[in-house]
Amino acid sequence: MCGIVGYVGNRECADILVDGLKRLEYRGYDSAGIAVFQNGKIKVAKSKGKLVDLEQKMESGEKPHGICGIGHTRWATHGEPSDINSHPHGNKRVTIVHNGIIENYKQIKDFLIAQGYGFESETDTETVAKLLDYYYDGNPIETISKMIDKVNGSYALGILFRDYPDTIYAVRKESPLIIGLGENENFIASDVTPILKHTRKYYLLEHDEIAIINQTGVKVCTTEGEEIEKEEHIADWDIDAAEKGGYEHFMLKEINEQPTAIRTTISPRIQNDLPYLEESGLTFEMLKNYKRLFVVACGTAMHAGLVGKYVIEKLARVEVIVDIASEFRYRNPIISEDDLVILVSQSGETADTIAALKLAKERGATTLAIVNVKGSTIAREADLVIYTHAGPEISVASTKAYSVQLSIMYLLAFELAYAKGAITEERCKELTKQLIDIPEKLSEVLVLKERCQFIASRLVNSESLLYIGRGLDYALSMEGSLKLKEISYIHSESYAAGELKHGTISLVTEDMPVVAVATQSDLLEKTISNVKEVKARGAKVSIICPEDVEIGKDVANHLIKLPKMEDILMPMLAAVPMQYIAYYTAVLKGCDVDQPRNLAKSVTVE
Ligand code: AGP
Ligand code: GLU
Repeated sequence: MCGIVGYVGNRECADILVDGLKRLEYRGYDSAGIAVFQNGKIKVAKSKGKLVDLEQKMESGEKPHGICGIGHTRWATHGEPSDINSHPHGNKRVTIVHNGIIENYKQIKDFLIAQGYGFESETDTETVAKLLDYYYDGNPIETISKMIDKVNGSYALGILFRDYPDTIYAVRKESPLIIGLGENENFIASDVTPILKHTRKYYLLEHDEIAIINQTGVKVCTTEGEEIEKEEHIADWDIDAAEKGGYEHFMLKEINEQPTAIRTTISPRIQNDLPYLEESGLTFEMLKNYKRLFVVACGTAMHAGLVGKYVIEKLARVEVIVDIASEFRYRNPIISEDDLVILVSQSGETADTIAALKLAKERGATTLAIVNVKGSTIAREADLVIYTHAGPEISVASTKAYSVQLSIMYLLAFELAYAKGAITEERCKELTKQLIDIPEKLSEVLVLKERCQFIASRLVNSESLLYIGRGLDYALSMEGSLKLKEISYIHSESYAAGELKHGTISLVTEDMPVVAVATQSDLLEKTISNVKEVKARGAKVSIICPEDVEIGKDVANHLIKLPKMEDILMPMLAAVPMQYIAYYTAVLKGCDVDQPRNLAKSVTVE
């Protein structure tokens, strides 16, 4: 899931590479490294740990000087995070950075050992570097083509050949790579964020296209060496969006960006007061005909799908099956041509979601991607695509991407319900109007941060927590629980409130705080009964509920009251206090909020 960058131009590149890697550090932060041509030789600096560790190392004299180089920030898949396993890998003749997994690396390694090669690291990447060296005959394109034939798996590679000290070669399969086009300088990067400071123009590299990049130009060719004409894209992300902008952490900034992100996402999709999704290719006629919907995704994106399920089934009376992508892809799901399979992904590069998309296409279903990153694999491979407009989400813990995914789920539910005749045009307009009001209501919720901070101070010393809710609140509590454990390392579980007494309630003691979500009026009494059950067993309870609900001190220790909206829309508001609670708990524990241990933002491996 690593991030890779490359620069060739007329400026010193070490700092440019490191700055670019900072923007990709969300993709992995086990180690970092760069390789730069210095006086015709490839000079490498690399270090275990985060970029600051590499920077420190370079300050103490190891900084390479030159105008052409590549860089890497790693999320280890093969071999522990260590100096030796850090990228770049290679030798004096060929040096590479790699994002992906080489599945047949063992065979290649054995083959190369038999040819007399030695290996320093435990990585799969080093086998590709040495294989390139083995094939190298003075012609980089032919060498890369031979490598492509031999290697199975996924890769985005930045390659330096010693004999071409002013050129970066790049190739990719499955893992993403873009080529930034500047004035007298060019770039490679895993996504557009590293290049925004320098240029907005870029090419998307396709599978097994080989790019030859130098100061004056970029040439892209096939493995046979035939030149390919590439379409130039313009990045529309705001450069400031990838900066902290005065906030202590990206996560806090991104939580606060939610009103704007939702507004930007929904406003182009509303016409004549009704949802309008046709620009994605999803027509009203098509919606009338789907028999079933699937939502397939991972983590937070899957949780957005769960909320979507409750909303769609309630309003449109169409069955929705929500699947974890890594399960869906191997469970031989029953899908037909009458189904719409929705893939939800912030990055658009999640390996399991990509595999699920391919499977759904093979089975003949229509595929719809709800994706944040333009031109990402999922966006490009799905039949239809709706982009969320959250802007870059840097913090590993997803917040604004979740909210915008929810907002699209709502628009889809409203339009589907209307298309199916389950609601009238008037009702559809009324619901749409309420969705338009969400950003303003959210601003009222965002000011509850001190209340959430206080609750966080009560949770911070716990070893384990329960999140409970019913119906939509249960779907939402799953996201609350994931957020907390992901960044604060406190174990937590989300549970359907009514299911507690079938086993899990035996865990409840005064040391097990409970966060209850109770925004659904038809289920309120039932949820409160469950809250009383845990309270009676000593749990300290925090309840998130609408402002008009009266809850006594005997029931809840802490209350978070939200502006009142129609029940079905309450999840859009209730998500925020849960994000804040997770955030402040992690801050109080001194955790690395934006870069939690063992994780990476873009999970491009299985
Ligand atoms: C959320 O906080 C996570 N870091 C994670 O669950 C994430 O949502 C998941 O990996 C899916 O990523 P995607 O949206 O980029 O596909
Ligand atoms: N497989 C390589 C390694 O472990 C690259 C990892 C990745 O891209 O996630 O170093």
